Amino acid sequence: MCSIIGYKGKSPAAPILVNSLKRMEYRGYDSVGVATLEGGKILVKKGVGNVEKVNSNLAMESMAGHAGVGHTRWATHGAVTDSNAHPHSACNNNIVVVHNGIIENYKELKEGLISSGHVFTSQTDSEVIAHLLEVYYAQFSSVKKAMTETCKKLRGAFAFVAVFNDGTIAGARYEEPLIIGVANGGYFLSSDVLGFIEFTDRAIFLDNRDIAIMDSTKLELFNFEGEAVARPIAQVAWELGAADKGKYAHYTLKEINEQKSTLADAMSQNVDTVEKFCDAIKSAASLYITGSGSSYHAALVAKQVLAKFAKIRVEAVISSEFQYVLESMDSKSVLIAISQSGETADVLNSAKLVKRMGAKILSIVNVPTSSLALQSDHFLLINCGPEIGVAATKSFTGQLAVIYNIINRLCGGCLGADIASQLAAAAEKILAGQENIAKIAAQLKDATDVYILGRSIHYPIALEGALKLKELAYVHAEGIAAGELKHGPLALMEKNTVVILINPHDSTFGDTISNAHEIKARGATVIGISDSKEEIYDYWIEIPRLEQEMLYPIESVMPLQILAYYMALERNANPDYPRNLAKSVTVR
Ligand code: F6R
Repeated sequence: MCSIIGYKGKSPAAPILVNSLKRMEYRGYDSVGVATLEGGKILVKKGVGNVEKVNSNLAMESMAGHAGVGHTRWATHGAVTDSNAHPHSACNNNIVVVHNGIIENYKELKEGLISSGHVFTSQTDSEVIAHLLEVYYAQFSSVKKAMTETCKKLRGAFAFVAVFNDGTIAGARYEEPLIIGVANGGYFLSSDVLGFIEFTDRAIFLDNRDIAIMDSTKLELFNFEGEAVARPIAQVAWELGAADKGKYAHYTLKEINEQKSTLADAMSQNVDTVEKFCDAIKSAASLYITGSGSSYHAALVAKQVLAKFAKIRVEAVISSEFQYVLESMDSKSVLIAISQSGETADVLNSAKLVKRMGAKILSIVNVPTSSLALQSDHFLLINCGPEIGVAATKSFTGQLAVIYNIINRLCGGCLGADIASQLAAAAEKILAGQENIAKIAAQLKDATDVYILGRSIHYPIALEGALKLKELAYVHAEGIAAGELKHGPLALMEKNTVVILINPHDSTFGDTISNAHEIKARGATVIGISDSKEEIYDYWIEIPRLEQEMLYPIESVMPLQILAYYMALERNANPDYPRNLAKSVTVR
């Protein structure tokens, strides 16, 4: 959730750290801090707000020194305050730490440290790391020993980077990502490749229980037992760095508009890899599919389309619930895990539990170097480029495109040979209609409750649209299976209620139009997302007609993304950084 960055090299550290934090801000953005080492002294500046705000208040960029660490926070333990912002210092200010993850046993560690005289200045779980390092550094006069002893004491999930006042930077990871960037004249330790991609494309992906220590001349890697380990240097794609807003006001808007091309990119897959993926699906005695948030909604679409076209039964389970269904699995089961980041803790936990049973893991991810991709038997890439906006947009439709591609192979091409260009053309038309949707958003500015209704494959899209409205525009929204209207939700229909119907001309059309009448009769506003204009709609959002009706989810979600984006603007919310959220949810 948080992002951490460390740098040691020939260049001034502070401007590099601040820039890296800006690029990784999607991981958390409620407070920010930087520490640098200058003349044997550690300087710390930190505060509440995003990187830009804290930097302009405190001039972090101008701090002296050629080594340092930085952090953006997504609060777990302790409120959003200046003192809870990282970096955290130990008592003698000879060590500071930035941390991502959760230290589960921090209370008992803290009590022990307090009883031996340590004074804490924050409510965070992270501060115990700084004090433990201080204890062991004093005891052994060795950074390596301080790191190994500290890591052995910690329970939970963590990646942390520490600056020692002797000039050493050290980092360790367990169940949270930590990647070394190897640049000419310096090293980085970062939560994400984006933290250093501007400076180098050479990266070392640390394993669980790895420790990295950098002094002025060298980099050394150990495990928690202190034994040397070797990790290869990988070359990462420079395109990962292509994460700027271009001509758009927000990343979210840019990413929505990129769907013109990202759908085709998602469908263009290596044939052998798809074949292996499909063979594994066919070999499954029982098949499960999982994901969190939007990725779970993609799983729900997959479940229906797989059943319809490939005659394959798959059970869709939300990742945070996965641990409760394990009894029904065994080593012949196969899990398809869907995740943009490949770092979502609930998804990784599902994969871990399944792997322990000896079952296979297939994944659909956007980040090829992610923890999920690395532990999968086979993975397919969404290929949509970096998604910085916190809300999933192009990655969601990319996931669907990958799923349709798999299903098309499983059903011997029954979806047609040219779905990619059909969908790209549909996306182009929908995106050309943004102005109309922006006008509707202005009309809905003060709505307090929005219901999105859809049947069959449109139901997961109703859920996804409601999620977009909640997180971007902070409006109460619910996705409802349209047939369920009469079983309860109809009681909520009145004059100020807004109802969006996902209603293309397919086998669900007639029944959904009947719902429209029931809703209209109670005075609610009806918005139709459809390929045909109907009188019953107060507002019509046009989507192009598709020959293959099972493909509608990819196009019908786009107007909902656009609506949520413009409603966010109308309601003065920043669509790129919704309050209280973070893009990569690496805690359970
Ligand atoms: C919603 C959203 C989240 C993510 C969820 C899973 O717009 O972005 O619900 O879909 O946190 O993230 P990934 O796909 O990275 O596992």
